[in-house]
Formats: sequence, structure tokens, C-alpha cells
Amino acid sequence: MSAQLALDVRNLSVSFPMRGRDADGRRRRLLAVDDVSFSVARGKTLGIVGESGSGKTTAAMAVARLVPKMAGSIIIDGTDFGALDTEALRRARQRVQIIFQDPYSSLNPRLRAADIVREPLIYAGATSRTEQDRIIDELFEAVGLRPEQKALFPHQFSGGQRQRIGIARALSTRPSLIICDEPVSALDVAVQAQILNLLKSLQAQFGLTYLFISHDLGVVQHMCDDIAVMYMGQFMEYANRESFFAAPRHPYSEALLDAVPTIEVGAQATGGKLVDGAIPDLTKPQTGCRFASRCPHVAAGCEDSVPLLDVWPGTSDHQLACYRAAEFAAS
Ligand SMILES: Nc1ncnc2c1ncn2[C@@H]1O[C@H](COP(=O)(O)OP(=O)(O)OP(=O)(O)O)[C@@H](O)[C@H]1O
Ligand SMILES: [Mg+2]
Repeated sequence: MSAQLALDVRNLSVSFPMRGRDADGRRRRLLAVDDVSFSVARGKTLGIVGESGSGKTTAAMAVARLVPKMAGSIIIDGTDFGALDTEALRRARQRVQIIFQDPYSSLNPRLRAADIVREPLIYAGATSRTEQDRIIDELFEAVGLRPEQKALFPHQFSGGQRQRIGIARALSTRPSLIICDEPVSALDVAVQAQILNLLKSLQAQFGLTYLFISHDLGVVQHMCDDIAVMYMGQFMEYANRESFFAAPRHPYSEALLDAVPTIEVGAQATGGKLVDGAIPDLTKPQTGCRFASRCPHVAAGCEDSVPLLDVWPGTSDHQLACYRAAEFAAS
């Protein structure tokens, strides 16, 4: 395992308990993330893209240990994050920070902006008040907020400015990994590009590592070094940006690319309409390709067993999970 990896996730599965029992009398569970592996090198960005309900947030929350995993390992900067006990986890929490989608609901309305940024430093426990103030000043400048705005409350800021506070807060403990969960999709189109560019320049300035979640391939293309396309709990395709956008190969990726407007024209939360078809019931075991029910290229065999990610011939790391990949390559 490379020491350069800020995050290395192997065989992660996450399920949620549901109402009712299955035929064997066991509690029904919804398998939201099913045996997914991914890694992010230090200073880089991995994008996880997919439609609503594909499991992006659940995978990220499991990485931050905000939802319990059912299986798999989570290594952050060489530490087995998934195995930490409660006390060690409390101390390690500062190593993963999250920038949330909605800056209106994710900031405590009763705290002044400076104290919102201060909070994670207090939890982390190691810094003096003077040191906290110094860090807050530095971060306010870094995210483009003025010093006098430190004393204001969230409602006194615009959406874009609130997201800047959220970003400063996420940076405060110098985390090994920052999870950005749809960080711009609640913002006005005009403000989205400013925040994305801020995230990029902060990454260059501080060497940040991002796990970047989006339903929008245009945003992901702008932000990410590697891209994982997720559908119904599994990765359909996983590749570096150049390889992916030169030739997205999975039928689901093609459908996403056709459906989603680009960042220039301002993608909104819903995206376009994707191919029709039934969506699999994740409370039941999956017997074939999850996309088969909607796939325009579905063929005999696609529904018989689950395709696994496999490296595309002639590439080093462009992986996809599709039985028909070789046929597409030949045509
Ligand atoms: N706490 C929960 N309890 C039960 N089911 C859940 C819970 N959280 C998520 N799910 C289910 O897990 C699946 C994946 O949800 P998740 O929120 O991870 O998707 P997502 O890709 O982030 O979608 P979105 O783009 O809408 O944010 C969905 O079927 C969802 O209903
Ligand atoms: Mg989500």
C-alpha cells in the first residue's frame, strides 16, 4: 500500500436496517454500498458521480465513520480508521472534514462565523485560544472573507459566503481528507464556479485531498483527477479524468453524459432525464448487472451474474464493470 495515499478504501459495504423481515425471518436491510474499493493520492481529487440514490453520500459518510460500515477497510494516511475505538476515533475525527451541500442548514445559526470555524479546533483539543484566533484569521483570508465578517452570524451572509465559512471550518484542523458532498449544487449558478475555483486554489495552496461527490459530470470534469461512476451501490466505471472523458465506456456513463448539462450552462440538482427503466430493489440480493433493467445495450447474460470492475485492455487503470465491454471495443 502506497504511503502517498491519503485514503485507501477496500471492499466497503454499507447497509441500513429497514422495516420488516425477509422470507427467512431476518431483518430487512438496504444494501446502499456494495463492495466498493477506491483510493485518493495525497493532494488529489477523486470524484464519485451518479444519480440520486446511487450511494455516494453513504460511501462518503462511511469513510468519515458517520454511518457504520458492514464490511471493508478504511485507511486514512496509513491509519486503519475503520478499526479505531471510540476515544481514538474522537481524536482522529479531525483528520476527515466534510463540506456539505447546503450552507443554509449546515452552519449553526447561533454561532458567529469565527466560532463556527473555531469549533473543530476546540473538539481537536490541542490549540490555545490565541493559536485558534491566528488560524481563524488565516482561514478567513484564504477563503476570501473579510476580518470584520468574523463577528457576523450565518443569516448575515449570502449562500456563497456561507459556503466559504463551511470551507474554512473544514480546513481548520488541517485534515488529511476533505469530503465535498455536492458543495455547490445548492448555490446560484453564478456562484458555483467561484466556489469550485476557490476549492481548487485552496487545494493548490494547502495540498488538500478531496473526495468530491457530485451528480454533475461537468463539475467533476473540472475538479477531479479520477472519476468513479456509481450506480445503485456499485462502481460501473473508475478511471482517471483524461481516460474517462476521452472515452467513457460504460453504458451508464454514456447515459449520464448525455443527460447532464455542462457546468457552463449551469447544471441543476436534477440533471436531465436518463434512460427509462426500473431501478433495482436494493433490499433484495442483486443477481446481475444493476443497470441491466435500463441499459440500451442489455444482452443475454447481463442479468445472470454481477459484472466486476475489470481493467480495460490497453489501459493501466481504466476499469469498468460491463459484460459487453469487449464487444464495444471491437466495434
Ligand atoms: N439512513 C438511511 N436509512 C435507510 N436508507 C438510507 C439511509 N441513508 C440512505 N439510504 C438509502 O441508501 C441509498 C443511497 O443513498 P445516498 O444518500 O447514499 O445516495 P446519493 O448517491 O448520495 O444520492 P443523492 O444524489 O440524492 O444525494 C438510497 O436508496 C437511500 O434511500
Ligand atoms: Mg447524497
